[in-house]
Amino acid sequence: QVPELENATVRMKNPECVKERISSLRREGTGKLQVISDFDMTLTRFGFNGQRCPTSHNIIDNSRAISEEGRKKLKALLHHYYPIEIDPYRTVEDKLPLMVEWWTKAHSLLSQQKILKSDIAQMVKESEVMLRDGFNTFFDQLQQGNVPLFIFSAGVGNILEEIIRQAQVYHPNVNVVSNYMDFDDDGVLRGFKSPLIHTYNKNNTVLENTEYFQQLSARTNIILLGDSMGDLTMADGVANVHHILKIGFLNDKVEEQRLKYMDAYDIVLEKDETLDVVNGILRYILMET
Ligand code: TMP
Ligand code: MG
Repeated sequence: QVPELENATVRMKNPECVKERISSLRREGTGKLQVISDFDMTLTRFGFNGQRCPTSHNIIDNSRAISEEGRKKLKALLHHYYPIEIDPYRTVEDKLPLMVEWWTKAHSLLSQQKILKSDIAQMVKESEVMLRDGFNTFFDQLQQGNVPLFIFSAGVGNILEEIIRQAQVYHPNVNVVSNYMDFDDDGVLRGFKSPLIHTYNKNNTVLENTEYFQQLSARTNIILLGDSMGDLTMADGVANVHHILKIGFLNDKVEEQRLKYMDAYDIVLEKDETLDVVNGILRYILMET
């Protein structure tokens, strides 16, 4: 079926169930299928040559548009809140207000800098961001198969869109819901548009008012891609889910989080910087019979 499922990075609690679900997705056809994916650390790499790769927020933080003092403050926020975000021993209820705090403080700091709309493309060009290996195959397969790709991100939409545009994979089947920058008439950042999307509200509450919400509901077979426990609710807006296959990238604190991820995701990819397994599954599902 899918030889990539034998890769050393793959963990499955119930491999038989996964195989059955993949068969169902193939049998029911691409007209019913959509892919719902997180962006940062799911479609982009977590690390390269032993160095961490940036999130969409980090791309701005590290850019020349931010003063040294601003950068220090943003890094301090990251060091304080990121361990909370991934702490396997704290509940989502406990983390939620703290994530709102992090995003609110970070967005407020960014809005105090003189960030220009016209800086965005250069910021991305000069950054160390990398899409995961195999990204071309991933985006191209979905486009050729007429399968919509919905990117649901708590990162920065303007940056994310620029990354996929520069990689030449921003095809018409791609839809993005994320945090978008709000610029004044001179093209200077003055804030972020609402609703605020953070790690733990990636669900109906922010999707209800989006244009894409209607389209979402028609495709009841879903492949969900994420790297955080917060990504598991991204498909909640689809009313009558028929089959869902959840694939989770386990990037950090692997030992501590393994069991939790294996309970939550059908397929867990441990320290796997590629989209090979996802591409193998898509190849099989999209293959003409
Ligand atoms: P997502 O991958 O679920 O869309 O979440 C975006 C990531 O961005 C999340 O893992 C935390 C991270 N982040 C930063 O790196 N810097 C920031 O300032 C903020 C608010 C979030
Ligand atoms: Mg992520």
